[in-house]
Amino acid sequence: MKLKHILPIFLMLSGLLACTPENTPGSHSDPEMDSFIAELMGKMTLEEKIGQINLVSVGFDVTGPRVSEDVEEKIVNGQVGAVFNTYTPVAVRKLQELAISKSRLGIPLLFAFDVVHGHRTIFPVPLGLAASWDMELIEKSARIAAEEASAEGLNWTFSPMVDITRDPRWGRICEGSGEDAWYGSRVAEAMVRGYQGEDLAAQNTVMACIKHFALYGGAMSGRDYSTVDMSLLKMTEDYMPPYKAAVEAGAGSVMTSFNDINGVPATANRWLLTELLREQWGFEGFVVTDYTAVEELIPFGVAKDVRDAARLSLEAGVDMDMVSEIMVDHIGVLIEEQIVDPQLVDEACRRVLEAKYKLGLFEDPYRYADEQRGRDIPLSKDYRNAAMEIATRSMVLLKNENEILPLKREGSIALIGPLASSRRDVIGNWSGGGRAADAVSVEEGMRKLLGKDVVIHTAKGANITNDTLLLYKLNAHGGRLDYLDPAKLLKEALRAARKSDVILAVVGESQGMSGESASRSHIGIPQSQLDLLKALKKTGKPLVIVLMNGRPLTLEWENEHADAILETWFAGTEAGNAIARVLYGESNPSGKLTATFPRNIGQIPIFYNHKNIGRPYGGDMLDKFKSQYLDVSNEPLFPFGFGLSYTTFSYGELQLSSTELGKSGSLSISVEVSNTGSYTGEEVVQLYVQDLVASVTRPVKELKAYQKISLSPGEARELTFTLSPDDLRFYNTQLEYISEPGAFKVYVGTNSRDVQEAGFELVW
Ligand code: NOJ
Repeated sequence: MKLKHILPIFLMLSGLLACTPENTPGSHSDPEMDSFIAELMGKMTLEEKIGQINLVSVGFDVTGPRVSEDVEEKIVNGQVGAVFNTYTPVAVRKLQELAISKSRLGIPLLFAFDVVHGHRTIFPVPLGLAASWDMELIEKSARIAAEEASAEGLNWTFSPMVDITRDPRWGRICEGSGEDAWYGSRVAEAMVRGYQGEDLAAQNTVMACIKHFALYGGAMSGRDYSTVDMSLLKMTEDYMPPYKAAVEAGAGSVMTSFNDINGVPATANRWLLTELLREQWGFEGFVVTDYTAVEELIPFGVAKDVRDAARLSLEAGVDMDMVSEIMVDHIGVLIEEQIVDPQLVDEACRRVLEAKYKLGLFEDPYRYADEQRGRDIPLSKDYRNAAMEIATRSMVLLKNENEILPLKREGSIALIGPLASSRRDVIGNWSGGGRAADAVSVEEGMRKLLGKDVVIHTAKGANITNDTLLLYKLNAHGGRLDYLDPAKLLKEALRAARKSDVILAVVGESQGMSGESASRSHIGIPQSQLDLLKALKKTGKPLVIVLMNGRPLTLEWENEHADAILETWFAGTEAGNAIARVLYGESNPSGKLTATFPRNIGQIPIFYNHKNIGRPYGGDMLDKFKSQYLDVSNEPLFPFGFGLSYTTFSYGELQLSSTELGKSGSLSISVEVSNTGSYTGEEVVQLYVQDLVASVTRPVKELKAYQKISLSPGEARELTFTLSPDDLRFYNTQLEYISEPGAFKVYVGTNSRDVQEAGFELVW
């Protein structure tokens, strides 16, 4: 008989079947679950309830400033509800057994991990995944991640990260989908669907966690953990939608962010966690803090001590304390002293137990600790194939002069750069259970694809950076970067370059240069590598740059001097194979940027959907009193939605079904897109709108739809988009989501800059 069935009988026999009013679950729940949890909570002591809201970190991965102690003893004492940073069926079973057979009530534990872009099979970092504009593949990557993670004992992932950001200095831009709230919402939904599937209790699904709630990507100066200050209008329109979309997609949990919002840290922000998230959006899962965020209310200066911090976060709507252990240590006393309402603990505990119930853990606490699955599932051939397909489709071709790409399978190449032979860097940061040993470097991918067809001369050419302080920091944070004599490295590189037909320079950031606590104030390729590129350019050989990085970079020199630039992000386990295939034309790149690449750091924040203003720049640099710089244009280097292909596409004129759109009507926008080049290729056809006159200032363009299509050479296809008045709604100053009649423009094109346009009127 399963625990789920035994437990109520045990409780009934012991006369402890109680459903006190404070336990009464909300009407949303399923009655069987409600009565099961009410019965269980009726049996629990206050300490045991508080134990359920305690999340400890144990194991081989350290993802914050501190690790938890005496975990096994705490599990036995019923002081732990969930564990993270450990996995494998054996490790999970061991701790789960302690909870089931040694703790008084045998309540199963949740097991969490940062499965962010794959678990054992690693996919491109999320910014790369987003660049695929392929929701089916993005969902598939999360599905595979869930299959692998659940086979290794996990039932909860701290993903998706849905923070919108417009600041590439912020290292965590690589963990999200970029700058656009509408697009980010689509990605958020796909990820939640992928992780949670149809049935959270299935053996191959894991619970998602929406993070970081909220506005973490708005960190001032792009510096991680710094303050966020923005208007309600801006946050509602430009930052909140992906969190809301992920809630609506049914994500089971939400993680608070490290920043403050309107002066109140997210972890103590009742408006955010209770009024907005629960009352307005109807979120029914549980809220976990980020790492030690309860404790951090003290340095924030909003809590005077740990007791205050515990009270503030519980009262705000936090249901689980990650690593601080402040709740478990202090809430009981605060309740005894009648400072904290015990009902709050009941609610938090109930929400955590509901998640466990939905995951099927009361039926079978070992459901996710199946050793056979642990052996069979991870890194299967199918998953690696999927990783390769997704990686190829995430790459963005930024430049391709004289069609130098795809390369010909003949002659010789110089494969140069500190990232050319790296297996560790290609899997990126937050690479979960991924192992460098399983990954394919660019050099390996090239050799495998090319065999004896092409002679490959390799050289490292430069250190990732010659900045010794930066190197020291990166290594202190777990990197393995060495420092070799730059002059010697350069000499070897030039020798390799001179005897080759083409130079392939694999340069950019090491994986530790983006991600958490990896903000940069200069976002170019580090100087050591730029010097290398400049020296290589002087050889006169064609120069192809293969970029690896987790953020938009400033690439003015590179764009001016390289013959081609391929953005590969950190492309995952199959990176090397995927990059080789793209370079040699086995796959035609089709990725498009979802974050603007600035010309220089002074342009930041720079994003496509900026507002109309009173003195817009009209293209005349000498028109003094216009919004522009003296020393750089307003244009980014590569706009949102940008990406080339080996083929070319042409767009016909836009055809609108009408010049008017009625209140309950719809408007069709058609355009013919043709492949005018000589390769089969995919194009992401993007549709933007602009509200020309409204009661509040509106963006110059807003993405509202896109279609990704494949066309063979000479093929043309008519595409139709449909707009309804709903697509034209916006938030007014009262934060009401409204429509206003009036003139609009619609734009369709290959990126947010190069578009065809037409006008129409919203009428009623
Ligand atoms: C801190 C990070 O901000 C968060 O994204 C992550 O999930 C937790 N650490 C747990 O590792």
